[in-house]
Amino acid sequence: MNFVNNHILSVSQFDLPAINQVFSVADRMVPYVNRQRVTRVLEGCILGNMFFEPSTRTRVSFGCAFNLLGGEVRETTEVRASAIVKGESFYDTARVLSGYSDVIVMRHKIEGSVEEFASASRVPVLNGGDGANEHPSQALLDLYTIRKEMAGQGKGIDNLRIALIGDLRYGRAVHSLCKLLTLYSNVHFTLISPPELSLGDEYISAMRGAGHKVVESMDLYAGISHADILYVTRTQEERFPTREEADLYRGLFRLNQSIYTEYCEPNTVIMHPLPRDSRDDANELDSDLNENPNLAIFRQTDNGVLIRMALFALILNVENQIEDTARDVNWHTRRSSESGGTP
Ligand code: NCD
Repeated sequence: MNFVNNHILSVSQFDLPAINQVFSVADRMVPYVNRQRVTRVLEGCILGNMFFEPSTRTRVSFGCAFNLLGGEVRETTEVRASAIVKGESFYDTARVLSGYSDVIVMRHKIEGSVEEFASASRVPVLNGGDGANEHPSQALLDLYTIRKEMAGQGKGIDNLRIALIGDLRYGRAVHSLCKLLTLYSNVHFTLISPPELSLGDEYISAMRGAGHKVVESMDLYAGISHADILYVTRTQEERFPTREEADLYRGLFRLNQSIYTEYCEPNTVIMHPLPRDSRDDANELDSDLNENPNLAIFRQTDNGVLIRMALFALILNVENQIEDTARDVNWHTRRSSESGGTP
């Protein structure tokens, strides 16, 4: 896979060497994310961070990743703040914004919108999530997290046992993650969802076709009992025809510390792309898990910055120059003296 000046629209573009390349660049970003070193390698470069759908961590971490490489960020949030609401086409918006930016991240609620936008863009475009379709950078950071968490237990990604829980129909993070995991060997997938929110047949056929074991279930307790990773998701209420329909599925599968203690193996890792829905009628991942050392949700969000820095460095072809402009930081925050933080 050639990253230089190319769009990242789908995880289907990746093979194992490309994934490993992203991960090894991400590993090198730790001193910058930990605020020990600064680099100015993207000085003068502008990111157009175009989020036409709600986002907190994806938008901010893409922006933060770009800033940490020395670049500037220009941002639009929500459709109503952009000319798309006046009827402007993706073609025109892309032509205009790519004149102002050197790379663009775009999120939009319509499946395929980012690809359409990218085809008119004069600069590389990264898919920050297109409707229920894909979320490539999330899947890469999830896979990077899985790899690190499993390495801590002396395991790899091959032979992984993962339970994916919740809205597997509309969850784009799940879609992209399943595609990436399909590239590995002998993964055991347990898909826990109501039948109406099950993972699409195209994903399941590809997973089975590549030799992986796929079990579909509605039994949360049995499904989580022999897993290395629990990947919990939110009911994607914004993708349902009506709010009332989404309400039918909210809170069906809830994980808390006592369920974890009773049913999970001692080192089972808990992941979630976030945001977790903490309202009483959902509470899919109870806050009583916050002190559980196997709760990896904030390690995921920290890892997201490393992965997004690596993607920018590879696409903008500065991967070999990052250290050239690097020096120690002049300042210290409490964060930089904490040993925990990003691994
Ligand atoms: C996910 C998304 O937007 O697809 N969140 C994220 O980007 N971290 C999942 C979600 O919104 O539930």
